[in-house]
Amino acid sequence: MEQQERSRAPHDSRHLHSRADPAKHSATMQCLVQSGSLLACNVDLLAITVLQRKENGVSRAQLQRGDGGVELDRALGGKLSEVITREELTGELGTARLVETNGQCKARHVVLLGGGTVQSCTTNTWRRLGVTLARVAEQVKARSAAGLMQTESVQRLKPAVRAQALIEGLMLGQYRFDTFKPEDERKPLRFTSFIAVSKGNRNALEAAFTRGALVAGAICQARDWINLPSNVCTPQYLAEQAQLVAKRGHLKCQILDSDQITAERMHLLKAVNQGSARPPIFIHVSYTPKGKAKRRVALVGKGVTFDTGGYDLKTSKHMGDMKNDMGGAAVVLATMQVMAALQPAIAIDAYIPSTENMVDALGYKSSDILTARSGKTIEIVNTDAEGRLVLADAIDYAVEREPELLIDLATLTGGVQYALGEIYTAVLGTAQSMINKLLAASTVAGEAMWQLPLEEEYLAGFKGGPAQLRNCGKSGASTITGALFLGQFVREVPWIHLDIAESAWSDEDRPLTSRGGTGAPLRTLCEFLLSL
Ligand code: BES
Ligand code: MN
Ligand code: ZN
Repeated sequence: MEQQERSRAPHDSRHLHSRADPAKHSATMQCLVQSGSLLACNVDLLAITVLQRKENGVSRAQLQRGDGGVELDRALGGKLSEVITREELTGELGTARLVETNGQCKARHVVLLGGGTVQSCTTNTWRRLGVTLARVAEQVKARSAAGLMQTESVQRLKPAVRAQALIEGLMLGQYRFDTFKPEDERKPLRFTSFIAVSKGNRNALEAAFTRGALVAGAICQARDWINLPSNVCTPQYLAEQAQLVAKRGHLKCQILDSDQITAERMHLLKAVNQGSARPPIFIHVSYTPKGKAKRRVALVGKGVTFDTGGYDLKTSKHMGDMKNDMGGAAVVLATMQVMAALQPAIAIDAYIPSTENMVDALGYKSSDILTARSGKTIEIVNTDAEGRLVLADAIDYAVEREPELLIDLATLTGGVQYALGEIYTAVLGTAQSMINKLLAASTVAGEAMWQLPLEEEYLAGFKGGPAQLRNCGKSGASTITGALFLGQFVREVPWIHLDIAESAWSDEDRPLTSRGGTGAPLRTLCEFLLSL
């Protein structure tokens, strides 16, 4: 059997991917905190924000005293205010106007970044300022930029919170997936240094920069994993990446191969894998704090490297981007990378069931009846509802290790689009106080999340067949029924389910994410775990 599996195994194109280094992105932005004046900074570009002020219904950009704009304008002989007036700049968020300094200070350019109105400031305002600054820096081929960080809170946002968001934006704004382009078509990363001029607490700012760079680096890593095609990012590849993350972060990593998965009775994972020439893999990475762990959290990430739907085949429109069906796995693994670096006082176990969902003579079929690891019998009514199957076995395995909280992340149901649209992560689960904490974290992290009800009445739709459960319910609310199915395997463990079917991937360029893998909701998850 093993022999047969190997002879059917395709030649995986790993050589196509030269960027196998998970730490690659974290080293791209150097941030320094300096005191003194912005004018004296030895950088290529000075960043100034202009806020949007509405007077009689007309928007006008206004230079700020707090970030050195007024002072800089004076030093440049009123040039900045002249541009603002002449061009009727509005200060709208996302806008940028370059002004040349003509040797009046060390920097070649000043950029006026529109910051929007004060009232509308959120952490995402600073992420967007970072993204815009990074784009402008690229445009003028600047290697370095500087900005002044005001010491007061802005709309209740402390300087450190703003600093973290800014660096995240600076790095996310430079993300691109160009691994497969020839060298001369790849844009070099030139803009690698940012200086924050501040009179405030230097340590707090530096810590915020470090954290922001780590988080953004992990997001870029998760995006890379998601964007890699499934002939490169196979279950085996994910396992190797997990081992690399573990090695660098001094984490424990256990990889179960196909035989060990059988020995662990993960029959649902095996069934989904039946149609694939690539064997399944189960990944378990764990982080243990130095002292006594305050809590034990389990993270479970769906790692379906490609979802054709199986015999309930998807149409080409729906299949096209299904390499992103391992988005949960990518975010969970990248989160472990951040946790390994920041060393919180909680123990975290990450579990990733990984396989493809393919069509093959051996593939599983509708009406097949399988026994889950938990012992429950499941009748397959749709081979495209494979995520819940692989997760059910992974959750059962995780639950056996008695975590105090279990969070699963999965591109589980296309229905999220109808419930919440393109950018939201749907939140469901039983651990309501933890869900509240997570939603609070999502506000700081600037990632859209909304809770849906775990309506038990819809459970009836799973029953009535020849087995204990069908793999699909009857309600039209597929995001809710998908969660309900998973809920059958969590036993008494407090549980949060994040359906990232929409948020993990973006069909178009958005302010903070380019088309492709988004890395959501990594920022929220890190913010949440660090707050425990
Ligand atoms: N991976 C898909 C869900 C998905 C859809 C993710 C669109 C990202 C974008 C999942 O395995 C799936 O096929 N779900 C089915 C479940 C249904 C058969 C009950 C769905 O949502 O249509
Ligand atoms: Mn599917
Ligand atoms: Zn799927």
